[in-house]
Amino acid sequence: MRHLIDFGDMTRQEWDELYRRCSAIIDNPGAYIDACRGKVSCNLFYEPSTRTNFSFQTAMLRLGGSVFGFADPNSSSIAKGETLKDTIKMVSSYADVVVMRNPREGAAKAASLYSNVPVVNAGDGGHMHPTQTMADLTTITRLRGGVDGLSIGLCGDLKNGRTVHSLIKALEKFHGLKFYLISPRELALPEYMRAFMKERGMWNVEVTGLEAVIPQLDVLYMTRVQRERFVDPLEYKRNKGIYILNRRKLAQARKDLLILHPLPRVDEIDIDVDDDPRAVYFDQARYGMYARMALLMDLANQPRLPQQPVEIGVRPLCRNPNCITQTEHYLPPLIKQNGGVDCCAFCDRAL
Ligand code: NCD
Repeated sequence: MRHLIDFGDMTRQEWDELYRRCSAIIDNPGAYIDACRGKVSCNLFYEPSTRTNFSFQTAMLRLGGSVFGFADPNSSSIAKGETLKDTIKMVSSYADVVVMRNPREGAAKAASLYSNVPVVNAGDGGHMHPTQTMADLTTITRLRGGVDGLSIGLCGDLKNGRTVHSLIKALEKFHGLKFYLISPRELALPEYMRAFMKERGMWNVEVTGLEAVIPQLDVLYMTRVQRERFVDPLEYKRNKGIYILNRRKLAQARKDLLILHPLPRVDEIDIDVDDDPRAVYFDQARYGMYARMALLMDLANQPRLPQQPVEIGVRPLCRNPNCITQTEHYLPPLIKQNGGVDCCAFCDRAL
């Protein structure tokens, strides 16, 4: 694996190896304090972040490497109108690995075209967030011994929640899973994710109520309604606060349920749930740091490769208003097939 843009970039075998390394780090972190000695990570956060940015930073520091970057793009030349291409060409000449979060779908894929060091997608709009998925899989595997055969409830904003999309992409690599997709109709999974599940025959049911399915679940993955992705404020108002997990609802759940949440939480889990042994979302955030250590050990130690020429585009092919190709017009017109349909290779939407 050269870049981590989408969980589909990783084979099941690569994930198993990464998980083994992550588990070894959790058991003996002191053995890895020089694993990235002399290496430098550039963290570009164009969107707010607490866990992802800090856990990437601490992961690199705990491996003996160093970190530079920004948490606010207005403090860089982006405020003067610099393109993503030029920013990436510059920072990838200073760093050994680039970690980027950006509000536009497909931004990390775009960055990877112009970088001569590995690029990690730390969240691209409402599209994907593969390193959160590494945290999620590590949590489930450490606490349940494995992922195969579990019934998993994904609850909340399945339309805009990038962590859900990445998690589904990853869970395709496991066997015997049942998915309960719990959301209001307006916030159901986007079409490209439904097509992905359908093409791979992933068992799922879509429901609007949490209480009816909670007794079935081994894992309940709660998510926040992603206010920043709504164009229509009324649509957000209609849907906010729609699912609230509380002690009463949990009384119906299995004793060994795992409650996950990528965080930040707004109101979708009552704070009195935090002390329930089934609530593992704070452990999940800590596992995320170890999973990122395992990833950085691999990527930051890869050789710098010469930059290949990239075709120059003239106008965006894709009509998704949130796609990176809408603002960075020089991007090449890349197409990929999802379920036999031509899709934008940056944001996955059907063309
Ligand atoms: C998530 C994200 O940024 O997508 N947070 C995170 O990285 N842990 C979830 C969210 O913001 O709701």
